[in-house]
Amino acid sequence: MPAERLQKYLSRAGVASRRAGEEMIKAGRVMVNGQVVRELGVKIDPEKDLVKVDGRRVRPEALVTVMLHKPYGYLSTTKDPQGRRVVTDLLGEGGPRLYPVGRLDYDATGLLLLTNDGELAQRLTHPRYQVPRTYRVTVAGEVSRETLGRLARGAEVAGRVVPAEVQVRKREAEKTVLEITVWEGRYHLVKRLLSQVGHPVLKLKRIAYGPLRLGRLPRGGHRFLTPVEAAALQTGAGRP
Ligand code: URA
Repeated sequence: MPAERLQKYLSRAGVASRRAGEEMIKAGRVMVNGQVVRELGVKIDPEKDLVKVDGRRVRPEALVTVMLHKPYGYLSTTKDPQGRRVVTDLLGEGGPRLYPVGRLDYDATGLLLLTNDGELAQRLTHPRYQVPRTYRVTVAGEVSRETLGRLARGAEVAGRVVPAEVQVRKREAEKTVLEITVWEGRYHLVKRLLSQVGHPVLKLKRIAYGPLRLGRLPRGGHRFLTPVEAAALQTGAGRP
């Protein structure tokens, strides 16, 4: 592993923010291989060097990302003051603490990522990185070609034009099943977009996020990303 700045290592280890880590270093609370380090900018080898804060060893957790198939009726959070079920209930005990990457609505299902890599989560959800999300959506009514064109050009949600790629997957009596891709993740975005063009959403399932696809992961199940998927996700989030 390449050398890393001591304050970055402290922040990865969950000891302190980078700024607070700098204060700890200046205050002489941080030791590297038995020596107090007081200057900022010192680089360490995270694999080999032994770092202590106030005499206690600190080490970053391994970075982990899992894919979950979120079922209906779970909140995309880690705790709910009202005691409703939350997605982390589905991960079981004993693993690292993971946080959902963005949200799926309580009544939505499908691909939800959970990670302890805060920087990756930030990139995946920030509109600057334009990470595509694809949903399979059942809407009320028959969606016309004009409406598909309007969505492709970009319908307006809360004052911003949101382009979407849309394909019709199935036409049923008074309902249409669509696949819709958007490149940002605002609150209720797909529902608002489709309501805007006169087709309220009846069912919404996320089937892809960046380069990842939900595939056959069973509802309520989760799995670690493969190394190939993890690398593709980093690239998709604009990390070299
Ligand atoms: N758009 C929505 O409206 N809901 C979701 O859960 C995700 C995208």
